[in-house]
Amino acid sequence: MKKKIKLFDPYIDNLEKKSIIETLESHYWASGDGSGNVRKFEKLFTKYVGAKESVAVNSGTAALNLALSLIDLKGKEVILPSLSFVSTAHAVILNGGIPIFVDIDPQTLCIDADKIKQSLTSKSRVILPVHFGGMPCNLNEIQKICKENNIFLIEDAAHASGSKYQNQKVGSHGFAVCFSFHPVKNLAMPTGGIISLNSKNFKSMKKTLLARRWCGITNRHGMKYDVKEAGWNYYMNEFSAGIGIAQLKKLDKMNLFRKKIAKRYEKELRIEQKIPFTDDCSYHLYWIQTKNRNSFIKNMQEFGIEVGIHYKPIHKMTMYNSHNILPITERVTKAIVTLPIHPNLTENDIDHIIKTANKFAR
Ligand SMILES: Cc1ncc(COP(=O)(O)O)c(C=O)c1O
Repeated sequence: MKKKIKLFDPYIDNLEKKSIIETLESHYWASGDGSGNVRKFEKLFTKYVGAKESVAVNSGTAALNLALSLIDLKGKEVILPSLSFVSTAHAVILNGGIPIFVDIDPQTLCIDADKIKQSLTSKSRVILPVHFGGMPCNLNEIQKICKENNIFLIEDAAHASGSKYQNQKVGSHGFAVCFSFHPVKNLAMPTGGIISLNSKNFKSMKKTLLARRWCGITNRHGMKYDVKEAGWNYYMNEFSAGIGIAQLKKLDKMNLFRKKIAKRYEKELRIEQKIPFTDDCSYHLYWIQTKNRNSFIKNMQEFGIEVGIHYKPIHKMTMYNSHNILPITERVTKAIVTLPIHPNLTENDIDHIIKTANKFAR
């Protein structure tokens, strides 16, 4: 039987294997002393994205929860898209905020800056855009809105490791920028995330985040420590960080590979609605829209190609049950399908995906 083409697949070589053995044999597996991978990864990632500081955590979800905890959100509103993974909205609720879902731009599927303006109220505290699929949002416009209205920009960059906005890496703009390194992501770890910081007071923000990522523990001197507030167990482990260091070394190469596939899809897929091509996108996801989604997915699977749906709209979930009317999000989420795009695909795989998608998409 022909092998199945996977939707996501981490790209590994000897670098990751060596790192795992070294960490295993170091006997220091949690972050802190030992191999120091976590601190090294934080430094390297901060430099890579051009941020002022970064704090590594154990998931993108943890990154969002912690980043939003930096702002007092009790009874305040956070503006975000509904087209995202549920963590984006949960982080608002878990920090006492009110999610205000705003519609997306039909071309990029990122939050629509004009519609953000229409949703501002005296309670607006944070804008939380998602760089969907790695496509950078209109950060100039969003930063302008934040400045004019005294609002914080916290970015969900879970898909955007290595994406660029006007020649600067995503990670160097917002007050806090949250990345995910889940194994399906374009920088993959067993689990992981990071918060990159860019505000003037980044040093005190980092201090707060370091305490909150490990149960509120501060002032560690030998065996002594203090706790001034509650925190979580969100720290990144040394194995993940070691893999992250290996992955970061080849991130640009892996993203280039994705871009080459995206270019072929752009040229050869006879499907009208698809993610636009730009060098600035990491292409963590490649989305298309089809009118016959159910039969398209069934046919692709029968031809050995794994595809996905990213995402169901959050504002329609029972928990949120929002009465916001988001016509573009609702239309797109009925038709969206994600196709495989990762460095493990062979030319034959890509040919097969293009041929099959062209055959079945309506
Ligand atoms: C847009 C977005 N935000 C947040 C997350 C959460 O990241 P993690 O799975 O690392 O917790 C994800 C992961 O799928 C995501 O796609």
